[in-house]
Amino acid sequence: MQLPDLPTPQVVVDRSRALRNIQRAQEVAAAAGARLRPHAKTHKSPVAARWQIEAGAAGICCAQLGEAEVFAGAGIADIRLPYPINPSNAARLLALMDRAAISIIVDHLEVARAWSAVMRRAGRRLDVLVKVDVGFHRCGIDPDADPLAFVQAIDGLDGLRLRGLLSHAGHAYQAPSERDLRAIALEEARILTGLRDRAAASGIGIEELSVGATPLLRFAAAQRGITEIRAGNYIYFDRTQVALGSAALDDCALMVLATVVSKPAPDRIILDCGSKTLTGDQARGFSPMPGYGAILDEGGTGVDGTLVLERLSEEHATVRVAGSTRLEPGARVFVVPNHSCVVSNLVDEIVLVDGNRILERMEVAARGRIQ
Ligand SMILES: Cc1ncc(COP(=O)(O)O)c(C=O)c1O
Repeated sequence: MQLPDLPTPQVVVDRSRALRNIQRAQEVAAAAGARLRPHAKTHKSPVAARWQIEAGAAGICCAQLGEAEVFAGAGIADIRLPYPINPSNAARLLALMDRAAISIIVDHLEVARAWSAVMRRAGRRLDVLVKVDVGFHRCGIDPDADPLAFVQAIDGLDGLRLRGLLSHAGHAYQAPSERDLRAIALEEARILTGLRDRAAASGIGIEELSVGATPLLRFAAAQRGITEIRAGNYIYFDRTQVALGSAALDDCALMVLATVVSKPAPDRIILDCGSKTLTGDQARGFSPMPGYGAILDEGGTGVDGTLVLERLSEEHATVRVAGSTRLEPGARVFVVPNHSCVVSNLVDEIVLVDGNRILERMEVAARGRIQ
């Protein structure tokens, strides 16, 4: 079967590109003296997790217990959940601890106390990392509001083993420039190492400082003191990462193969990849990237600018043509989506390709596991 025979829209992953992205990230982590523990939220596939582990990753991260259950079932032995898992899920978490090394984050004392009670009752010990807010203002303790008292309180809870400090600089996605990105990375390391040192001075040894966000990967070597990188998106990249300077279009491994289904006017073509495939996510980043994805011609070259994917309905993508296009109904194009993580969440299977050659199908086994 050749690519032109595939029913569309079809999400494909160029395996050579994904493997190259994995290798490069592994080299970045080695240069930073840190372990790489990729966030599996991007690929949601045990096959891809094994590529990462075979390349040297220390384990993986998942956001949800449902995802972790899939990966543990597939034999992934070390799973971190950098998400504020609620103790109402205690039975599932305890069952998971029988199948893999599990760690979670804590950023709220009552929640941590509830986990402590669960673990004491079960006669178990749960590895935890204190989540620190380094500027994203989502989860995490405030580093300016006596964070040491929180670390000491967690360290004193039976049933929990304090493994480290963890942050996610998600505000990097809103950074207006390369300079700002670097500043965010340095500030993140400053906050974590500062708290680690204060904890050490009070007698609490902190082993791990875990950071992770793909736009900051290239500054990891400058983040002195970090021990773990949890980047996720880097395996596939996407148009947002191109807009943030993290990748070039030809690093983007996940693409949507789409068909031109209509050409109602010379300046308008319709593709069959609507919001059910591409989602409505806009690209973020400091290079302007209007529209819902980059359209590549058959040679894989970006033709952004002349073709703007400007409107999505559920099954239609309306493309504005500046000038003229030789694309007629029946023609195939690749679309690099704005956000690869949400695209892979919509499909049960991805087709692995190498350029225009089909390799095999890959199950996205943890997709939709939002609980
Ligand atoms: C807590 C946490 N860690 C790591 C990551 C990975 O970030 P990225 O996908 O930018 O590599 C995410 C992504 O959402 C996250 O929420």
